[in-house]
Amino acid sequence: MYITNAKKQFKNLKNKKDVIVLAFESSCDETSVSIVKNGREILGSIVSSQIDIHKKFGGVVPEVASRNHILVIDNITKEVMNSAKLTFADIDAIAVTYGAGLVGALMVGVTYAKSLAFALNLPLIKVNHIKAHISANYLTYPNLKPPFLALVVSGGHTALLKIKNYTDFKLIATTFDDAIGEAFDKVAKVLGLEYPGGPVINKLAEKGNINIQFIKTPFNKKELSFSYSGLKTSVINYIHKLEQNGDTPNIENICASFQAEAVREVVEKSIYQAVRLKEKTIVVAGGVSANTYLREKLIQKGKENGIEVLFPEFKFCTDNADMVGSEAYFLIKSGKNLSNIDLTAEPNINLKYSNRN
Ligand code: KG4
Ligand code: ZN
Repeated sequence: MYITNAKKQFKNLKNKKDVIVLAFESSCDETSVSIVKNGREILGSIVSSQIDIHKKFGGVVPEVASRNHILVIDNITKEVMNSAKLTFADIDAIAVTYGAGLVGALMVGVTYAKSLAFALNLPLIKVNHIKAHISANYLTYPNLKPPFLALVVSGGHTALLKIKNYTDFKLIATTFDDAIGEAFDKVAKVLGLEYPGGPVINKLAEKGNINIQFIKTPFNKKELSFSYSGLKTSVINYIHKLEQNGDTPNIENICASFQAEAVREVVEKSIYQAVRLKEKTIVVAGGVSANTYLREKLIQKGKENGIEVLFPEFKFCTDNADMVGSEAYFLIKSGKNLSNIDLTAEPNINLKYSNRN
């Protein structure tokens, strides 16, 4: 009964002039709710971050994250609706991140969104978190259209994707081991710095010198996937050696040198692939796209090779529901990802495949 009606409404949205999506994001440590019109215009938005809660533990504690999503999601939804001066009757569809992420955290958003969709008799759209990060750029650049090459650099992913159209993509390269954001967070932890490590290392690196040569991941044209485990281990070994010798590490120089190598790895390989594939635009997405050194280096190398490099506005780099609402709009217009209320969380979405029903 529910799905028959949802299918009918979903079909009608394809030709509707204005489509308003109420979107939810709860994949990690941010609970976020947003109302997005036509994939590009934000009518209301709240991001409630749990960073201060997880700082005490030096990283995200999954169980604590789930509990805190539960505590805030209902209030945030009401606040967003009020701030946009809208009622549920104005909403055309509900969208939610169903993966990738922490299973318990994802389940909070998925369950809340499913309940709302069922109660309001609205279509429910499932959204891939990684694709949503890329769609954050449609909010920053109103005229941006596929095709382009997307570089995803987040806490869980380092991947280069060929974005063919608004909903279909092809995986070009990914990481063999750790993600770039994960490497920032792990190195920060060893240095005794706060979680999340990325922004702290970025800041400290500005005061340091790039004068330590950590291990360089080999550049093998046949195997162009990224790798961060060797670099991370190299930094950890360097710090341990200093400690064994009773020497004090220069934190700022370590941050600058690690960051330079982490960025070199992703810049060199992304530019190589863009040139090889004759791509003229690289669109960057995910938490690490906030890194100022990465921004500077990738834009510079892009210019040298005739490639335009686009970064999302800082507020769209880390997790938010705005990007989920944007991605959902393009799925609706392509007739994809309508979900039934048996939707469940998928902590590990395989990036090898495009969004499919
Ligand atoms: O996209 P995101 O919010 O979550 C995932 O989907 O994984 O990314 C979070 C990651 C963390 O690893 C964090 O340390 C990193 O993004 N990050 C940064 C910066 N800001 C956030 N890494 C380097 N430099 C930054 N300025
Ligand atoms: Zn994310």
